[in-house]
Amino acid sequence: MDGPVEMADCVALYERVMGLRPDDGSLNPRLLTALQHNSGLVIGAYLGDELVGFTYSFLALEHGADGHGPRLYQYSQLAVVADERQGLGIGRLLKLGQRDRCLAQGTTLIRWAYDPLQTRNAHFNLDVLGAVVDAFKPALYGTSGFGAATGEPTDRFIVSWDLNGPARPAAPAPGPPPGGHHPGEVYDDGDDRIVVLPDDWHRLRAETGPDHAARLRGRLSHTFARLLTDRTAVSCVRLPDGLAAYRFVPRPAAHATIPRP
Ligand SMILES: CC(C)(COP(=O)(O)OP(=O)(O)OC[C@H]1O[C@@H](n2cnc3c(N)ncnc32)[C@H](O)[C@@H]1OP(=O)(O)O)[C@@H](O)C(=O)NCCC(=O)NCCS
Repeated sequence: MDGPVEMADCVALYERVMGLRPDDGSLNPRLLTALQHNSGLVIGAYLGDELVGFTYSFLALEHGADGHGPRLYQYSQLAVVADERQGLGIGRLLKLGQRDRCLAQGTTLIRWAYDPLQTRNAHFNLDVLGAVVDAFKPALYGTSGFGAATGEPTDRFIVSWDLNGPARPAAPAPGPPPGGHHPGEVYDDGDDRIVVLPDDWHRLRAETGPDHAARLRGRLSHTFARLLTDRTAVSCVRLPDGLAAYRFVPRPAAHATIPRP
């Protein structure tokens, strides 16, 4: 996609889906144009003439780790689908479009960030697309988010999507056994670790209050940071009773690492 009208449509869609207020800051259509013309990727999904989703990314450089040379990848800053069109497969098509464009460009890795407590997003990234969580960045954008996340630290997982693999994950990771779990619980499943959390963070926060939510977030953050030292998260599935569960597996020795600062 290209042109000032298309880029302005992207900005408007972003503001609508994220529920941005005037002081929250936004995207700049000129930035999107500049990215599109300089190895970044701006990809839109249309139903007829209507823009119903878009994603944008920029070219990034990973310094060589473990004796490997530098590597180029796309860092995807955003993917949004119009509220009324979510859950219909548009997000997946957008990411597959991003994948195809990357491969055509000669890059075989896409990274992005998401809030680990947003379990539907986690499920989309890990189970639907087959990305894996590499790292945990507490308060990546500061100590308070915006919209429904106002007052909450902007903790983020960094995921890597290896485009050398198949476009679809090999098989969904098995879910944990049903029954008797509680948020914050960590248990073993063979060599894997399962972390239980609420499946709707904003509802949990509204129902139990900000202090309880902050304590639980703190506990989960501690667990995530500890597990990610030698593991990656490969799945996040819904459980009964308003819960969800991450699966952390031992980190393969040759797995890509996140860039050094
Ligand atoms: C995340 C997002 C881009 C996914 O796009 P989508 O078109 O809804 O996703 P798809 O229909 O291709 O895939 C749906 C899958 O993703 C999950 N998902 C994640 N967020 C979802 C949402 N808000 N609505 C519906 N499904 C969602 C579903 O669980 C579903 O998995 P399932 O089919 O196994 O049940 C979209 O929901 C969205 O714009 N969310 C709000 C903005 C956002 O958080 N963006 C990501 C961070 S930048």
